[in-house]
Amino acid sequence: MKKKLNVGALISGGGTNLQAIIDACRRGKIDAKIVFVGSDNPDAYGIQRAGKYHIPTFIVDYRSIIRQVKENPSALPPPDDFDLQTQLQKQTLFGSDTDPQRVRDFMITRAIAEARLLEEMKPYKFDLLVLAGFMRNFSPYFIDKVNTNPELPRIMNIHPALLPSFPGVDGYGDTFRYGCKVGGCTVHFVDYGEDSGPIIGQRAFKIFPHDTIESIKERGLKLEWELYPECIQLYAEGRLKVVRKTYQMRAGKTWTRAVVEILPPG
Ligand code: GAR
Repeated sequence: MKKKLNVGALISGGGTNLQAIIDACRRGKIDAKIVFVGSDNPDAYGIQRAGKYHIPTFIVDYRSIIRQVKENPSALPPPDDFDLQTQLQKQTLFGSDTDPQRVRDFMITRAIAEARLLEEMKPYKFDLLVLAGFMRNFSPYFIDKVNTNPELPRIMNIHPALLPSFPGVDGYGDTFRYGCKVGGCTVHFVDYGEDSGPIIGQRAFKIFPHDTIESIKERGLKLEWELYPECIQLYAEGRLKVVRKTYQMRAGKTWTRAVVEILPPG
């Protein structure tokens, strides 16, 4: 029998994408198995979905960690191997115009929460980590510990917009409010920026004059449930390769970007 891809999942909410992945695994549509489901939110309904299938679950309550650090910074120190300067140099979540104290607080509180996540994930051998509606950005502290092979990233995310348009927390809402005539969803590898990593797959849908945010969200989610399992299967088949491409632009300038190449089957 073919070896299954061991997949860990992180969620923050209802978990309909998680459900789609669980269903695809159970129906043998993808060669994968979910080995854990974690959440930053103790009330995430997706945790109950996982429980139904006896998938191990855990919670790392980000909100409570952030509050504790704010109230008493010495009560929860950052992990021993955390170096603020290294993290600040690597991160691309914030621009140079962001309040430096805000960026420092973010890096410290996230490293504390991420160290807990890593601790919870430790007992499970996973090949791929999927973010299925996980509404927290990772700092380089976490990403570097999961991505040990630069040629094969191990963290995938689904985003409710056609990236690189509308990164952030409300992809469908931003698409709708902008007046777009097409919306969509994107699966991508996670890098140090916000929804900026190499794109694996996308699906698009039309937006009609009678549409509302709710109706386009409904249409988009249906496509997400198809797209995410398909991308996980490509990973399971070893068909995703990240390559750095450099293009010559005008005035002698160059443009370099890491992109995903989808290899043929077999
Ligand atoms: C999905 O639309 C997903 O694309 C989005 O959250 C929703 C989660 O739904 N993710 C993000 O916005 C990540 N930035 P679900 O919990 O029902 O899968």
